[in-house]
Amino acid sequence: MKTAVSQSGIAELVRAGLSRKAKALPPWLFYDAAGSELFERITQLEAYYLTRKERQILLQHSGAIVDACVPETQWQVFELGAGSARKTAHLLRTALERQRCVEYHPLDISLDAMQNAVEYLAQELPAVKVCPEVTDYTQTQPRLPASDAGARKALLWMGSSLGNYEEAEAVAVLRRASAHFRAGDVLLLGVDLHPSEGSKQKQDLILAYDDAEGVTAAFNRNLLLRLNRELGADFRADQFEHRADWNEAAGRMEMHLVSRIRQRVYLAELEESFLFQAGESIHTESSYKPTVPQVQELLQQAGFPFVTAWMDPQRWFGVFLGRRCSRPADDPTSMQQ
Ligand code: AVI
Repeated sequence: MKTAVSQSGIAELVRAGLSRKAKALPPWLFYDAAGSELFERITQLEAYYLTRKERQILLQHSGAIVDACVPETQWQVFELGAGSARKTAHLLRTALERQRCVEYHPLDISLDAMQNAVEYLAQELPAVKVCPEVTDYTQTQPRLPASDAGARKALLWMGSSLGNYEEAEAVAVLRRASAHFRAGDVLLLGVDLHPSEGSKQKQDLILAYDDAEGVTAAFNRNLLLRLNRELGADFRADQFEHRADWNEAAGRMEMHLVSRIRQRVYLAELEESFLFQAGESIHTESSYKPTVPQVQELLQQAGFPFVTAWMDPQRWFGVFLGRRCSRPADDPTSMQQ
């Protein structure tokens, strides 16, 4: 597994995260080869409704979505955290059916995921020009296509991935990634909505992040196994309990790994050991579930005022469209680079 972040960079982040009073590790560390495979399995679980709901929305409304995104013939699609690109393929297929000329720029930190996406699209949609980029898309700007004259651009951030970031961070990611976008270009966000928006219950959320088959628990614990493999750590993963909580005040799901016993863990790469008290947790992930007004505000902040949204009938999940209405340089909300 190769990623865009160096081993020493990971080691320093882990040192910082485990040295904090409230221990925490960044959620992107989940996605080594084993973690990416476990995440693929999560997306196929009955309990993990997010993928299914988003796929249904994209299937049902792909014509309306494509028409709203790209009235012109040339479409350049940039997707943050594209993963296997299976859901986006619905939109790309619909665009091709509408005689659009499609260029797809998937960005992902995982080389394995990118290779998988490229092979899949070459087989299923050979007419799409695919320009993959293995990168930490939270820190970098997508490479500009050689020629984009006349092309309409779309930035996609699907799968409720924005929920894994604080609002200000999510806005910064979106502004950086869309710095070269022009008036008329669009942003499409797939968002798992706050339970107050529809019929979703707290229990639905808990089951989605703590499934009966234990796949999400394995995904969470794989983080420790990854540190054992890559940083010479001696975590005993079975001595850490997977916990998923709904944090009502913050409007987010949280995943934790809670030490079952008092234990000391050594990380050879750091030549340092870390003490865990019994019951002490490592906060491994937050998944914010925003309300509709919060998503609209986020679109505004990112420089793409809200246009429309498509939701499932129970209003559990939404696909939101924002459109840039002025050139970035004239846009008061756009970030100064
Ligand atoms: C990738 N991300 C949007 C997923 C989420 O729902 O926050 C990751 C995940 N964590 C547990 N299950 C899936």
